Amino acid sequence: MKAVRVHEFNMDVPMRVDEVEDARPAPGEVLVKAGAVGVNPVDLAIRAAKHPYAKLVTPPYIPGAEAAGEIIALGEGVEGWRIGQRVYGRAMGGSYAENVRLVADATAELPEAYSYEEGACITVAFYTAWNALVIKAQAGPGETVLVQGGAGGVGMAAIQLAKRLGCRVFATVSSDAKAEFCKEMGADETINYREEDFAERCMELTGGRGVDVVVELCACDNFDKDLDAIRVDGKIIVIGTGTGKGPGAEFRVPAVMTKDAVVLGLAVVNLFPKMPELVRRFTPLLREGAFRINVDKASRFEEANEAHDYVLDGQFLGKVVLVP
Ligand SMILES: NC(=O)c1ccc[n+]([C@@H]2O[C@H](COP(=O)([O-])OP(=O)(O)OC[C@H]3O[C@@H](n4cnc5c(N)ncnc54)[C@H](OP(=O)(O)O)[C@@H]3O)[C@@H](O)[C@H]2O)c1
Repeated sequence: MKAVRVHEFNMDVPMRVDEVEDARPAPGEVLVKAGAVGVNPVDLAIRAAKHPYAKLVTPPYIPGAEAAGEIIALGEGVEGWRIGQRVYGRAMGGSYAENVRLVADATAELPEAYSYEEGACITVAFYTAWNALVIKAQAGPGETVLVQGGAGGVGMAAIQLAKRLGCRVFATVSSDAKAEFCKEMGADETINYREEDFAERCMELTGGRGVDVVVELCACDNFDKDLDAIRVDGKIIVIGTGTGKGPGAEFRVPAVMTKDAVVLGLAVVNLFPKMPELVRRFTPLLREGAFRINVDKASRFEEANEAHDYVLDGQFLGKVVLVP
C-alpha cells in the first residue's frame, strides 16, 4: 500500500510517499481504506522530535493519528462492526496510509451527511474538546468559557461544544479572518490577543468576575495570564503547550492560590478507557448534524510536506487533511 513516511526527525528533510507492506488489523482494531486522514500539530511535533511520543517511533515511520474511511477488515475479537461501513476514528500512529488500523473502541459510524474529509477531523479535535469541557470542566448552562486558539482544530470544536452545553463563549484569535470564523462557529465574543490583553478583556466582558473555564491550547504562552482571566474557583484545562515559550514557561504560584484555581491537564492516551462512553454520547449529536467541521485544505499524499508547512504557517481555519 501507499503511505507517507518520515525518514528523519527533521522538518527540513521531506517526507516521502513510499510503497510499504499492507497493514493488518491487530486484535481490537478495524482496518479502513482511508478516504482522508487528519493532520494534527502533534504529527509535526513528533516529526521535529519535539514531542515525548517521538521516543515511540523510529524513522522511517508513518505519522498520523486519525482517519475516516470504509472498513475492509476486522481484527480478532472485534464485534459490532461490518465490512463496508463508513467510519472515522483514532489510530495509534500510522494513519498517513491508504489502509489505516483504527482502535475499534475509538471508532464510530460516520453519518452520510459528513464527507470522509470531515470525518478525518473529528476524533482529535472534537473528542479532545469533549474531554476538556464535558469530562474535565463539566461545563454547563450559564457558564462562561474562554477558548484559547479558537480558529484551530480543537478551538473550532470547543466553541461549538461549549455553545451546545449552553455556555457563553469567548475565543482568542490573531486576525479578523479568524475572528469572523470563530463567530461563525458560535463564539459570542472574540479577542485579538495580539492587540488586547485577553485577561483584562475577559474581566470587562464578565463585569469583573472572570470566566468559569479556560480551554487552553497554548498553555506555555497563556497560563500565567489565564490566572487573571478566571473567576475564583475557575478552571483551566491544559491541552496544548503552544509554540511561544517552550515547556519551561513560568507562572505566578501565588495566583493559583488566590484564585482557588482548578488546573486540569489532559492527554488522549489517558482517554482511551473512556472512549466507548464518549462515542456513545457523541454519536447522537453527530447524527443530528450538531457540529460544523471546516476542512480548510485537503491535499494529496504527494503534497504532505506542503500540508505540514501550511499547518506550521498557522493561517488555516479549522483543519487540514490528506487524501490518499
Ligand atoms: N493533550 C492532548 O491530548 C491534545 C489533544 C489535541 C491537541 N492537543 C494540542 O493542543 C494544541 C492545539 O491543537 P489544535 O489541533 O487545535 O491546533 P491548531 O489547529 O494548530 O490550532 C492552534 C490555534 O492556536 C492559535 N494560537 C497560537 N498561539 C496562540 C496564543 N499565544 N494564544 C492563543 N491562540 C494561539 C493558532 O492561531 P494563531 O497563531 O493565528 O493565533 C491556532 O488557531 C496543539 O498543541 C496540540 O498538539 C493536545
